[in-house]
Amino acid sequence: MSPNTPDLFGDAFAASSTASTPVNNPASQAQALRQQLHHHAHAYYTRDAPEIPDAEYDRLFRELQTLERAHPELLTSDSPTQRVGGQVLDGFAQVTHRVPMLSIRTETDTEPSGAEAFDARIRKELGLNESDPAVDYVGELKFDGLAMSLRYEGGLLVQAATRGDGETGEDVTTNIRTIGQIPLRLPTHAPSVLEVRGEVYMRRDDFETLNERQRQRIAAGTKGEKTFVNPRNAAAGAVRQLDSGIAAERPLSFFAYGLGDITPAAEGGPQWQTHFDMLMQLKAWGFPVAEQTAGVQGAAGLVAFHQRMAAERDALPYDIDGVVYKVNGLAQQLQLGFVTREPRWAVAHKYPAQEEMTTVLAIDVQVGRTGKLTPVAKLAPVFVGGVTVTNATLHNELEARRKDVRVGDTVIVRRAGDVIPEVVSVVLDRRPFDAPQFTMMSHCPVCGSLAERDDGEADHRCTGGLFCSAQRKQAIWHFAHRRAMDVDGLGDKLVDQLVDTAQVNTLADLYHLKLDRLSNMDRMAEKSAVNLLEALEKSKSTTLGRFLFSLGIRHVGEATAKELAWHFGQLDAIMVASEDALLQVADVGPVVAHSLRTFFDQPHNREVVLALRDAGVTWPEGDALAPTEMPLAGITVVLTGTLQSMGRDEAKEKLEALGAKVAGSVSKKTHYVVAGAESGSKLDKAQALGVPVLDDTGLTLLLSGQKP
Ligand code: IVH
Repeated sequence: MSPNTPDLFGDAFAASSTASTPVNNPASQAQALRQQLHHHAHAYYTRDAPEIPDAEYDRLFRELQTLERAHPELLTSDSPTQRVGGQVLDGFAQVTHRVPMLSIRTETDTEPSGAEAFDARIRKELGLNESDPAVDYVGELKFDGLAMSLRYEGGLLVQAATRGDGETGEDVTTNIRTIGQIPLRLPTHAPSVLEVRGEVYMRRDDFETLNERQRQRIAAGTKGEKTFVNPRNAAAGAVRQLDSGIAAERPLSFFAYGLGDITPAAEGGPQWQTHFDMLMQLKAWGFPVAEQTAGVQGAAGLVAFHQRMAAERDALPYDIDGVVYKVNGLAQQLQLGFVTREPRWAVAHKYPAQEEMTTVLAIDVQVGRTGKLTPVAKLAPVFVGGVTVTNATLHNELEARRKDVRVGDTVIVRRAGDVIPEVVSVVLDRRPFDAPQFTMMSHCPVCGSLAERDDGEADHRCTGGLFCSAQRKQAIWHFAHRRAMDVDGLGDKLVDQLVDTAQVNTLADLYHLKLDRLSNMDRMAEKSAVNLLEALEKSKSTTLGRFLFSLGIRHVGEATAKELAWHFGQLDAIMVASEDALLQVADVGPVVAHSLRTFFDQPHNREVVLALRDAGVTWPEGDALAPTEMPLAGITVVLTGTLQSMGRDEAKEKLEALGAKVAGSVSKKTHYVVAGAESGSKLDKAQALGVPVLDDTGLTLLLSGQKP
């Protein structure tokens, strides 16, 4: 521990090693083990900086468990072994809060003006006028969990209670003990009675893991299991579990944000005058306090905090539904007081919800360019994350089945930031009794061709190829793309019309469009029709790389198309190349080679190519692997490690200028690996594959145009 870090637990909590434990005294042995476990649990859960491996923690833990079993009189309520749960209750006892648990007023205006209105109200209540300085506030996150009051007496956690109606809650101590982040005991100088108020919540990743496990249990037929609609609901379920063993399986977290009852330690009263300092004291006593908590000044400070947290929201590992502003000065808080059950000194300023509930009206199957069939949930329109959502992709049959989304289901839809909306889960309680399970159809919904799923693939595909009008439309959009044939003015709607009216059945038909018919299409002025025809004409002179890419062959992207063009020089050579010949091309592996071969083996694809050439599409053709003037043409080099003579970028540039290709990874197609100091796995791979390895001298030789 560095001298600047406060020693959170005083001497009593310093880690000691078991070696120094008196072996023959079980009481001091148990105490020493507990101290170590407290120390490491704090390092792990609260400081996020574990000092020992999990296995070592488990070993210490089991040692203590064994000791306590052998000597039950040594068991204490703050023992870490008491976190695992196991007790099953008939019901929860009622707890009367000595200091009521209040709620906070919610600002309904989600815009920055909501923050300004709060500041204006506070200034008025405090009798401040314009010349008075800005009010000090604390900005906090509004965690989406459930409020909890933790009562410590004599430094030990004696009770954890839910909010209930604010006056009376439920005693959920056994379940709350399972939360690793909550201290079971406080340092010696803490107040003799202390009630810490805060929020129990579940992280999103913990929620996903829990729901996945629940789904597996349901699938395995375990009775009484269910999935949870959101992390808050899962957290609430875990807190109100009568079986604390089950509660322990559901990972919860905690943030402190306030105080209830307090009796200062004998040495004197609380050492803080502000809410912020109180939070920092809680943090020093071992309670998690969100790092975003910040002191801010005046309306401008509140607005800035609101906006900053809105930007950070999606990256947080847990849900928040807004921020909370609190007047910082405790004297000012006292002056402001309460209205009914809410303090005047705090307000919740919400963000638009990121999750909403809606119903699935249908599950449509859409056909992609390469025939991929995608199930899409059609939803009753719902406003979530700032937009109205009506569709959510279910990706493929496996995913649709995994989430078990059915027509008629009530579902939770989430849209966070710019991420595409997704169905998070189904509310099983609301499922209509006759909702059928989703199955992928056996035939393409557009053209009726057989739909197939290859072994090891998740996606079904329509086998109709360009016979399928859905694939044809997308093939045309792709063909016209800026990076393909670059036909300006051929938009989606126009392509739909051209295909639907059978004016364009194959790609080549594009080059036979006539002005009069074109200008009669919906939303098509004569000027745009003329422009489109000109763009089509212009697109006819292209390059072999662009042309190959524009054909939309599966797995053949822009870079691969360029490589193929460079390697073969001529289209005819590519069309007849065997898979083996194709494999000689850099970046071409078995999947791409097979896809190319399959494409060109189909007569209708060869006809399309011929028709396009007949329509006047041309490109300059070269010779296969053109023996150029460049001395290193056809040579592939991989650079690794630190070179002495020059930087890697410089070496790359020089090699490329001589016609060599510089690749990022070593394969059997690599001609040379140039290895400098501290070369790692690439050097190993070169040696394993028998690729010649050059040093700086070898590189110099290469750059002089000689092949070493
Ligand atoms: S302060 C006297 N601070 O929101 C003020 N509450 O409607 C007491 N909540 O019941 C609450 N984050 O469950 C406070 N940073 C935060 C909060 C927060 C979430 C919850 C809490 C409370 C409800 C208020």
